[in-house]
Amino acid sequence: MVRSILFTVLPALLASKLSVAAPIVGSRSDDNSAATTAVSNATVTSDFLQPALFSRVAYCSSSAVQSFQCGAPCQALGNVSVLQVGGNDGTVPMYFIAHDPSTNSIVVAHQGTDPNNLLSILNDAEFGLVDLNTTRFTAASGKSIQVHQGFQDTFERTADGVLAGVQSGLASTGATNVLVTGHSLGAAVATLDAMLLTENLDPSISMTTSVFGLPRVGNQAWADFVDSSLGTTLSHITNQNDPVPTVPPEFLGFVQPSQEFHITGVDSTGQATGIVACPGQDNENCSTGNSILDVSIANHLGPYFDDISFGGAACPA
Ligand SMILES: *[C@@H]1O[C@H](CO)[C@@H](O)[C@H](O)[C@H]1NC(C)=O
Ligand SMILES: *[C@@H]1O[C@H](CO)[C@@H](O)[C@H](O)[C@H]1NC(C)=O
Ligand SMILES: *[C@@H]1O[C@H](CO)[C@@H](O)[C@H](O)[C@H]1NC(C)=O
Ligand SMILES: *[C@@H]1O[C@H](CO)[C@@H](O)[C@H](O)[C@H]1NC(C)=O
Repeated sequence: MVRSILFTVLPALLASKLSVAAPIVGSRSDDNSAATTAVSNATVTSDFLQPALFSRVAYCSSSAVQSFQCGAPCQALGNVSVLQVGGNDGTVPMYFIAHDPSTNSIVVAHQGTDPNNLLSILNDAEFGLVDLNTTRFTAASGKSIQVHQGFQDTFERTADGVLAGVQSGLASTGATNVLVTGHSLGAAVATLDAMLLTENLDPSISMTTSVFGLPRVGNQAWADFVDSSLGTTLSHITNQNDPVPTVPPEFLGFVQPSQEFHITGVDSTGQATGIVACPGQDNENCSTGNSILDVSIANHLGPYFDDISFGGAACPA
């Protein structure tokens, strides 16, 4: 298992590193090594904890999420009402929409996939950058925005259901906030959702997007579009030597948006010993600067902080 994962990921990572030494068309000329700043535990608790708990529950089975009977992962969230569960545990990854009365929010949480599957998709030459659907994202028209085909296809399968579900959830609960979250593939789809919701919801609704282990979703124009639409309402949290935030590689034209928060260490009890804010896109002091010699699929799954991990093993229910 671990061997096959490494064989899948290493070629892309090696290619990614070679691009630094020998830039080719589509690579970035401006390496960003802006200084990072420490993030306090209080900020982690106030901004990242609730999204992480929702992203963890997104890995439970549809039936456990529907009844919100998934054991400790559900109990950690308290009194949450599930409004909609979608996906089919196959080509359409599970997602759910819930009302969280503690924050008066409608929450959209997307399930991810096995990291081995994800890295296969990202390394598959059949799937490259394709034009963003500007019928759906009218604000993207004429901006040459491209995203990974696998991510856009997956997003399209649930986009209508998510938009309708959030709109009806806002209307039925009177919530004034929307939180979008997910891990891994779920982080990629959640980011596309956040862009869709930002374009379609009333501007009085406060949007927050907090995702974990986000791969590179699109090109430079996409990263700029995300930055200008979501700004500081986006947080993408990366853990130590997780390879997923560095694929697909920069030399294929992929760029991470700003707002990375990088976990630099986790102790034996699952507590983060350091988290830094990484200014700008693809900051070399954070995931983008990781050495391929230190690649850790385990870091993709966690723990990230507060002993929170993601993936099927993190919610057996
Ligand atoms: C960021 O990276 C630059 C260049 O590698 C380095 O000089 C600087 O010390 C780093 N800063 C932090 C805060 O890690
Ligand atoms: C749980 O939240 C619902 C609304 O989502 C509310 O009607 C109910 O009173 C709450 N229950 C508790 C025990 O707080
Ligand atoms: C583009 O978005 C529209 C909705 O705005 C949808 O009907 C259409 O199927 C999407 N196209 C593709 C190729 O997914
Ligand atoms: C943050 O929490 C971690 C884990 O409990 C701890 O090691 C660290 O000292 C804390 N930092 C601060 C500033 O409280």
